[in-house]
Amino acid sequence: MQTHFQTPSDMNQGLLDSAFLLIASGGEVRKETLWDHLLKVALLGYVLDDSKIIATAAIKRPMDTYADSVFTKAMSDYDYNDFNHELGYVVIDPDFRNKRIASRLCEQLCERFFHCSLYATVRTNNPHMLSILYRNGFTDSGNIFKGRVETDCLKLLIRLKRSTIPATSSYF
Ligand SMILES: CC(C)(COP(=O)(O)OP(=O)(O)OC[C@H]1O[C@@H](n2cnc3c(N)ncnc32)[C@H](O)[C@@H]1OP(=O)(O)O)[C@@H](O)C(=O)NCCC(=O)NCCS
Repeated sequence: MQTHFQTPSDMNQGLLDSAFLLIASGGEVRKETLWDHLLKVALLGYVLDDSKIIATAAIKRPMDTYADSVFTKAMSDYDYNDFNHELGYVVIDPDFRNKRIASRLCEQLCERFFHCSLYATVRTNNPHMLSILYRNGFTDSGNIFKGRVETDCLKLLIRLKRSTIPATSSYF
């Protein structure tokens, strides 16, 4: 298995299609807007098994207006405008789960973006994703809020930017 970090503009159409299908299969995003949003991510991390993408995670550039932002919905003390990057599109092919693949991908993305304040939203009933976020220095912000589907309970988590490269960084 090989891990790669690329911007969408550096990826070929076959890879983008494969990433799209995996992210859509995760069931966490709206398929109608996924292409548009996927092409605008700041960096996509992905793992290849042979030539198939079996894992993705991305640093996204959020495009919500302030009023619609999750910061407003969660009633966070932080200002949405101070958070230009979101960790998301974390999806692992079901055949490859529980091998710490998501954990490693997210850790490497966070290291690469140590100089940016990051946020993420996660369902309260997703202990794997919550564990990944807490271990990478994210903390809860604001209150639990409802997602697009009324029954979805979501949490906002934030990670403030750092001014120095983490000592454990594998960035270089
Ligand atoms: C959530 C998901 C990305 C996890 O991927 P994964 O590669 O199987 O996860 P990992 O093996 O890296 O494990 C993640 C964490 O869960 C922890 N974990 C494992 N079993 C656990 C359990 N039963 N309860 C709580 N945490 C558990 C692991 O220790 C790890 O935490 P760590 O990084 O602090 O060590 C994957 O299940 C998935 O694709 N789900 C569908 C899409 C989704 O929900 N994406 C997240 C949207 S926000």
